Amino acid sequence: MELVDAWERYARERTPRRKTNARGATTWLNWTQYPDHGPDESVLGPLRGRTVLELGSGTGCNLAHLATLGADCVGVDIAPSRREKAVARWGHLPGLTFHTADTTDYLVRTDALFDAVLSIFGPVWFTEPEQFLPLIRKRLAPGGVLAFSHKPPQGGAQPVTTLREARAVTRWDRTPEEWAALLASSGFSQAKADIIPPPEGHHTATLLVTAYAEA
Ligand SMILES: C[S@@+](CC[C@H](N)C(=O)[O-])C[C@H]1O[C@@H](n2cnc3c(N)ncnc32)[C@H](O)[C@@H]1O
Repeated sequence: MELVDAWERYARERTPRRKTNARGATTWLNWTQYPDHGPDESVLGPLRGRTVLELGSGTGCNLAHLATLGADCVGVDIAPSRREKAVARWGHLPGLTFHTADTTDYLVRTDALFDAVLSIFGPVWFTEPEQFLPLIRKRLAPGGVLAFSHKPPQGGAQPVTTLREARAVTRWDRTPEEWAALLASSGFSQAKADIIPPPEGHHTATLLVTAYAEA
């Protein structure tokens, strides 16, 4: 319950995503902490007809974009209010399902396989990776991709308590090299961690990590 409360506190501080982005699109995928910045959904490979799972789907804006591109999408978030908001805004779209659950519980219970799993500043950053990555790997279809983003490590002891609003949440910061090693030992191949530089006038970059299940 403490974790749910923490993420509900965080949710109350958030402002809804804009109706349109700088290009005038009504849906889009944003891997970074900055609007109109960073790579798009092509990081995930082909999407039409593919099954996609988002861990920590928030208000569903990223997943809604993938649904409009023909993917069959499932979003899981621990905060009940996030699901309510996601359903209210995106419930009209086909191929989009949202669950309220801790992602560890969801991954343990589901027997579904996914072609792509993504997590944007989500539970991959907030769950002990040695335990979490093998659970994700089990739910990836052969050739499937895992992609996740978060801020690069800011130094200091690991793990660290994070997020002013969320309090009580633990974050596992890893360097690109540490992620590559962790992913390899969890059964992933071709792990790659890229630093996306911040837009002009900002200082904090974004780490974007991808890895695959053997085909
Ligand atoms: C920083 S927000 C990012 C939300 C969304 N991915 C986005 O980019 O807008 C992190 C989200 O992960 C969810 N979350 C954190 N830990 C979780 C867990 N263990 N299980 C499920 N959801 C979790 C939070 O409720 C929150 O909605």
